[in-house]
Formats: sequence, structure tokens, C-alpha cells
Amino acid sequence: MSQSEMRTGSRPGRVLVTGATGTVGSHVCAELTAFEELTVRAAVRDPDGYDGPADEIVTFDFTDPTTYRGAFVDVDSLFLVRPPAISRVERDLVPALAAAVGAGVDHVVFLSVIGADRNPVVPHAKIESWLTESGVETTFLRASFFMQNLVTEHLDEVRAGELFVPAGGGETSFVDARDVAAVAAVALMTGRTGAYDLTGPESLDYHEVAAVLSAELDYRVRYVAPSLLRFCWRRARRGGDLRKVLVMAGIYTTVRLGFAGRVSGDVRYLLGRDPRSFSTFVRDYRDVLS
Ligand SMILES: NC(=O)c1ccc[n+]([C@@H]2O[C@H](COP(=O)([O-])OP(=O)(O)OC[C@H]3O[C@@H](n4cnc5c(N)ncnc54)[C@H](OP(=O)(O)O)[C@@H]3O)[C@@H](O)[C@H]2O)c1
Repeated sequence: MSQSEMRTGSRPGRVLVTGATGTVGSHVCAELTAFEELTVRAAVRDPDGYDGPADEIVTFDFTDPTTYRGAFVDVDSLFLVRPPAISRVERDLVPALAAAVGAGVDHVVFLSVIGADRNPVVPHAKIESWLTESGVETTFLRASFFMQNLVTEHLDEVRAGELFVPAGGGETSFVDARDVAAVAAVALMTGRTGAYDLTGPESLDYHEVAAVLSAELDYRVRYVAPSLLRFCWRRARRGGDLRKVLVMAGIYTTVRLGFAGRVSGDVRYLLGRDPRSFSTFVRDYRDVLS
């Protein structure tokens, strides 16, 4: 934990949730709508297609400035998700952030990535810097790998009985996206600022991940530890977007090199309970994985 402090002042009246259809944002909306006194505004690109929890639904696209005004008006706090496809922060994200600050948003809870404080190259580091310099109150949630990646990005291969990731023997401190969302909700409701490393309770290598999946599900999952080249080749051959394949290769390289395994106590500190374990995650998502 690099810092922690409480903002003085009242609870927010209205929170804008970006990425409301996404892995963490959807759970943030669900957490926040439990607070009756709060107005939860879901910012989505396709309002007609949105059926998640929210008090208000607004059209919002980071790359479309005509959507900013309607999204940010009367908003006190912002849950900020940088869409994975947006890598040019200055061009595609900063205009929206500037509009949010200009409209009077005074607290931004940003879904960042673990290690962003040590790696200035990642977009999250640039966003953290911009927010810090803007003077707005900030909470940086530097999350480890989401367990939910196994039911999104890797679902088809898990169901086919294999984990095809170039992680070597490296460990990962996987975190459940529901715990990240719970921390975000606490930060938004209490105005807690600071920077936090959000991980699960343990660090697992992919042999252990496969073993837990095999133990909890009705089929066996084995870990294939391909080389980086084999991973990229297979993904590209199957029509994967090259930029995304390279980003994934970069992420798994950090795992291979042993940089992804550190376990933090910040979720416990902020929620007053242990983060969910990987076995709990697999049990809770058994229907999706079966
Ligand atoms: N995956 C991980 O393990 C992990 C770990 C730590 C940090 N992170 C970070 O968490 C963030 C979210 O990643 P994710 O994989 O979980 O994605 P996600 O939130 O599940 O999906 C991206 C979200 O962004 C929305 N979106 C896409 N383009 C948009 C645009 N132009 N304007 C407004 N909204 C847009 C999408 O809405 P639509 O429904 O309209 O497409 C969707 O709700 C990323 O910055 C990632 O680097 C991820």
C-alpha cells in the first residue's frame, strides 16, 4: 500500500460507472445500487443493449466527445475503466478525463494494473500521472490478473481441457474481479483515496491452476506451457488481433519472469475479510466452466 487517507466531505450523490458492461464495472454497478441514497449512472456505448443494474443509463464513448456532457453532468465520483483497446491515452482517453474534471467530478476511482507504479510504459501509468496532476482526488486500484480471465479470454480452451498460456513456471496472485469491485464500491462510498495493490490470497502457477480446475470440475484440465513464439503463432493463426496477441505475450512474460506472484494484504485491509480464493471462484463459476 503506497498511501491511504480518507477524503473529508460527504458521500457522493451520483457516481458514473464506465465499463459498466465489463468484468469489474458490472459488479461495481451491482454493489453500488445496493445504496439507496446513491444515484448510479451506467456509462455505456449501447444503452438499448444494457440490462445491468443502474438508476440511470447514459450513452458514453471515450472516443466521442459529443457524449461527454450528458455523461458527466451532475456527477460527483467516477469509476474509471480504461478499455483494453485504448492504448493511446493522450489522444483517446485524456479528452474524456479533462471533460470529467471540468464538469466538476471530484473523485476518480481508477481500475489500474499491478506494477503500474514501476512501469511507466503501460497506459495505466500514464492515466495515473494525468489524474494526479489534474488535482482531482484519486484512488488507484492496481489489480493483479483477474480470475475471470479464465471465463472470458480463456474459456474455450479451458472447456477443451487445456490452458495454453506462455507463463512457464511463473506464479500469479490472481484476484477475483468481484473483490476488486467491492473495493471500488468502498472507495467510492467512503471517499477513500490512495493506491492499493489488489491480489487474491495466494499465488499459483498454471500447473496449480489446472489442478484446481480439474479438482472442482467434471473434466481434466492440463497446463500446456507453450513458448512465447508458439503461443503467438497459434493465436495469430486462429485470427487473433495481432496487437492483442502481443500485449498478452508481454503480460505472460512478466509472469514467466516471476513478477506477477506477489500477494498483497490490501483487499483484506479495505474489506475487512479475506479475498476470494481461486477454488471459490471455480466453484462459483462452475456452470459457466462446465
Ligand atoms: N484482465 C485482467 O486480468 C486485468 C487485470 C488488471 C487490470 N486490468 C485492466 O482493467 C481494464 C478493463 O479490462 P477488462 O479486460 O476487464 O475489460 P472489460 O472491462 O471487461 O471490458 C471493457 C469495457 O470497456 C467498454 N468500452 C470499450 N470501448 C469503449 C469506449 N470506446 N468507450 C467507452 N467504453 C468502452 C466496454 O463496453 P462495451 O460493452 O461497449 O464493449 C466494456 O464495458 C483494462 O484497462 C485492463 O488493462 C485487467
